Amino acid sequence: MSKAEFVVVANRLPVDHDPDSENGWRRSPGGLVTALEPVMRKADGAWVGWAGKPNLEVEPFDFEGTHLVPVSLNEDEVQNYYEGMSNDTFWPLYHDVIAAPRYRRAWWDSYVTVNRRFAEAAAAAAADGATVWVQDYQLQLVPQMVRELRPDLTIGYFHHIPFPAYGLFAQLPWRRQVIQGLLGADVIGFQRVADAGNFARAVRRVFHYETKATGIRVPNADGTTRRAIARAFPISIDTESYIELAQREDIKARAVEIRENLGNPKKILLGVDRLDYTKGIRHRLKAYGELLNDGRLSVEDVVLVQVASPSRERVEAYMQLRDEIELTVGRINGDRDTMDHSAIRYLHQAYPREEMVALYLAADVMLVTALRDGMNLVAKEYVASRVDNRGVLVLSEFAGAADELGSALLMNPHDIGGLKDTIVRAVEMPAAEQGRRMRSLRKRVRENDVERWSQLFLNALAKAKEPENNA
Ligand code: F6P
Repeated sequence: MSKAEFVVVANRLPVDHDPDSENGWRRSPGGLVTALEPVMRKADGAWVGWAGKPNLEVEPFDFEGTHLVPVSLNEDEVQNYYEGMSNDTFWPLYHDVIAAPRYRRAWWDSYVTVNRRFAEAAAAAAADGATVWVQDYQLQLVPQMVRELRPDLTIGYFHHIPFPAYGLFAQLPWRRQVIQGLLGADVIGFQRVADAGNFARAVRRVFHYETKATGIRVPNADGTTRRAIARAFPISIDTESYIELAQREDIKARAVEIRENLGNPKKILLGVDRLDYTKGIRHRLKAYGELLNDGRLSVEDVVLVQVASPSRERVEAYMQLRDEIELTVGRINGDRDTMDHSAIRYLHQAYPREEMVALYLAADVMLVTALRDGMNLVAKEYVASRVDNRGVLVLSEFAGAADELGSALLMNPHDIGGLKDTIVRAVEMPAAEQGRRMRSLRKRVRENDVERWSQLFLNALAKAKEPENNA
């Protein structure tokens, strides 16, 4: 294939290897993939990423209009770069050390090696003067590595997860290398204004570079400087596709069927998360269990549906979390279930988007209780799906989505008493108030959809490259 004018570099390809499917691949359902899918379709670009399994050596290929460039990882690299450095060091550190980050030199070495492989693949795929857009914390060294290989390229980086306060970031033994890696980008995008602020502070503390508003003066090797931009671009969803699904007769009928299958409770509460310790699932279960024990809620009237999709299952902290959650669910159900009613319907599974929209339509209360979350697209998916202007979103202040979705019931998930009161308030909320809040939430999610997100980012990137910004 000829070289691409636009190259996305992400840890994962937008497809999963599936030997049973027609051509060996199927589109994968992840949040990032969903977010970038519409952009890629339009731009006719290339996507550099890992196919999700060790030792898979595959030549570049085209899939549904996108050129895919697979990067191969061996079993050691999956353990050290992906499970270790990305998901047992950066992930907990950047989510305010909810779990303890582990700092292993062998993991870091592997992270450097693999980042270089991604950078080389991106540099090889890009046409003269092309734009390269690097995604997320697994690839923080790639921007600077690409710049060194291909100074002609315009380089963007988007950080999908939180960027922590300097007091925490400073723990990282490789903090200089990470800041330097990110500063290789012309535009460094974050979910929240606070994340961009934390990053700028880290740049000042580690390198003493001048930062002014969103601009950072970065020295070049020849003594001149260039301006990098670090600012917030809150990500969103393909809102229109959720609206279309929510209006489909078969999906509306499926929502009714789900309700019936659950025994037609007065209220359905819903949690939808990757099974991750950042999501506050334990806090949610604690609050709900106590409400049943206190008699403020009853299994005759309410049920909690908790979808917890399997994630990073070989990382110790995730194995432990699964055990704890399944123990808690078992206890609550054991204590509170009747022959006819169950307190919690727990599903350790992932579902297609159609089924999720039916579930969103069936749920009277959506519980997003993350302890820390870059954005939380589930909150936006729920809002987009409520074409009937009904339903209540309970949303953690610690999710990026809280900056935009102020008409949700915002709460602090660490405050179990407050969370319990908020759940009761949501369950009892009159229809008129639901409508008022939901209309305002929907307006925001319709205006700021994923296409607008990528447009804003790519416009900022084009502008950052204009000569007057670099002296
Ligand atoms: O948004 C954070 C993120 O880590 C993405 O980069 C990733 O696609 C998603 O969560 C799921 O995680 P994983 O790729 O580790 O399964």
